[in-house]
Amino acid sequence: MTTTKQEAIEATISFVKSILENDSSGHDWWHIERVRKVALQIGEKEKANLFIVELAALLHDIADEKLNHSEEEGLTKVSNWLSSLNISEQDQNEIIEIISTMSFKGGNRPPVRTIEGKVVQDADRLDAIGAIGIARTFAYAGSHGDLIYDPNLPFRENMTKEEYRNGKSTAINHFYEKLLLLRETLNSDTAKEIAKERHEFMLHFLEQFYKEWNGQL
Ligand code: ADP
Ligand code: NI
Repeated sequence: MTTTKQEAIEATISFVKSILENDSSGHDWWHIERVRKVALQIGEKEKANLFIVELAALLHDIADEKLNHSEEEGLTKVSNWLSSLNISEQDQNEIIEIISTMSFKGGNRPPVRTIEGKVVQDADRLDAIGAIGIARTFAYAGSHGDLIYDPNLPFRENMTKEEYRNGKSTAINHFYEKLLLLRETLNSDTAKEIAKERHEFMLHFLEQFYKEWNGQL
């Protein structure tokens, strides 16, 4: 049983590290560490409860479907962990609510309700854009056997169901299906401000990429 907030954070860091240390699905420990750092900075500006922000940032990918048989199983893992900490039931519930509502793939999920949830969601989305976002995209594509780019492949929204099911995408395609859309989905003004430079950087990257691809010197 942990006693102080600092102890709860430290115990959670060890817990998350032990689960994600060897992860290669794009949710490695360093992604969590970046999200945590940026979430705390945005949280401070947005006057959020930083204890909730930090715990939710640390735990935000533990329930991911890729690491569990189902999302329910993942959420149970998170709530079991939280109840082992000496923190209030209200804090536990707020953190669980954040983690279960913040996914981009959300479908019909309710939007993130609390400022703490908005902050963590923003930090997670910021880690998918800019230089880091580009690096993660190419790492993901490589590990899934996708090409860097295929000029003959239509953008994903124009793909047939068959092509989609076969997972035919490219790293460059991912910019159009996700990365360039993320800026519009951010919640806080602080995150929108941070996103400007990262978004511009991706546009500049694409411009240079096509220039080199087409053999323009
Ligand atoms: P999240 O952490 O937001 O749930 P994902 O698990 O979908 O994101 O992906 C982890 C990382 O891999 C992110 O940086 C994301 O942009 C990238 N990624 C996801 N799907 C693809 C794809 N089809 N091609 C290239 N990169 C991808
Ligand atoms: Ni994440």
